[in-house]
Amino acid sequence: MTDIKTTISEYSAKFNQALPSFFPLPQGAEKRVVEAMQYSVMNGGKRLRPFLVYETAHLFGLDFNASLRTAAALEMLHSYSLIHDDLPAMDNDDLRRGKPTCHKQFDEATAILAGDGLLTYAFEILSAPETCADAQTRCELISLLASGAGAFDGMVAGQMLDLIAEDLPQNENSEQLIKRIEEMKTGRLIRYACEAGAVLGHATSAQRQALVDYSRKIGIAFQIADDILDVEGEQALVGKTLNKDSAQGKVTFVSLYGLNNAKQIANQLIADAKQIISTFGPASQTLQDLADFIINRKY
Ligand code: IPE
Ligand code: IPE
Ligand code: MG
Ligand code: MG
Ligand code: MG
Repeated sequence: MTDIKTTISEYSAKFNQALPSFFPLPQGAEKRVVEAMQYSVMNGGKRLRPFLVYETAHLFGLDFNASLRTAAALEMLHSYSLIHDDLPAMDNDDLRRGKPTCHKQFDEATAILAGDGLLTYAFEILSAPETCADAQTRCELISLLASGAGAFDGMVAGQMLDLIAEDLPQNENSEQLIKRIEEMKTGRLIRYACEAGAVLGHATSAQRQALVDYSRKIGIAFQIADDILDVEGEQALVGKTLNKDSAQGKVTFVSLYGLNNAKQIANQLIADAKQIISTFGPASQTLQDLADFIINRKY
């Protein structure tokens, strides 16, 4: 049996090979922004969200190419969120995926534009007929990504709360706050990955609900794992500057409960997620293994 790390890296290798065709360079000096977009998308990354799109769509018999453009659109949008998250006005980070952050490699204004470029490009990719022949399905993919990434209860809302929470004292409301932050800033894009698989695969509403439930559990667990890695990860593997959350006064499961309790919460979420996804039978084995990888990962 192939282990999940190998399965993910085989997918990533294929995905990375397909990515350059999404970045035709313009002739003029404006190509700088496309270079910055390309730099930020192509410089590594686990490709976990694209893999989730593929693997959930694969439950319904779809192959790599049938989910590629949706997976690529999501990775563009995720990469935009990282570029902006790293900006001096936000988390002020110098290192991303083991390399200088976009604003360090280029400059701040270019990094802002590269983020804008990737955000809009995600929707351009989804709206093209090559993504999926059926216009109604494309429309649904677009609308789901817009709300998942957006300011009302999506990723942008989560990022807003994450910043506001830096200045709040921890009290009895903190648990509720952290759940909302982690569910929105990280959970919603992970949820999109799984829901997009269901949409592409024309899942029944029960199947789609199971995928959404699975994604909500792994989404929070994924962010808890990220918060744990910030404390006890190895910088060379994680590829980011560590111990930033406590330095910046971020509210996380780790800051509220401590490492051991945070790990227990994440373990429980993963056990629940595996049970939910197992309703798909043997075809769900990779998604079960992926759930374990999310909390056992070192990067
Ligand atoms: C980092 O996401 C940002 C979070 C939401 C925690 P990933 O850990 O998936 O980052 P890459 O794409 O592998 O670099
Ligand atoms: C970032 O959370 C989530 C998004 C980019 C939406 P973090 O700020 O914890 O992510 P890292 O640790 O910088 O990757
Ligand atoms: Mg952040
Ligand atoms: Mg950050
Ligand atoms: Mg983090």
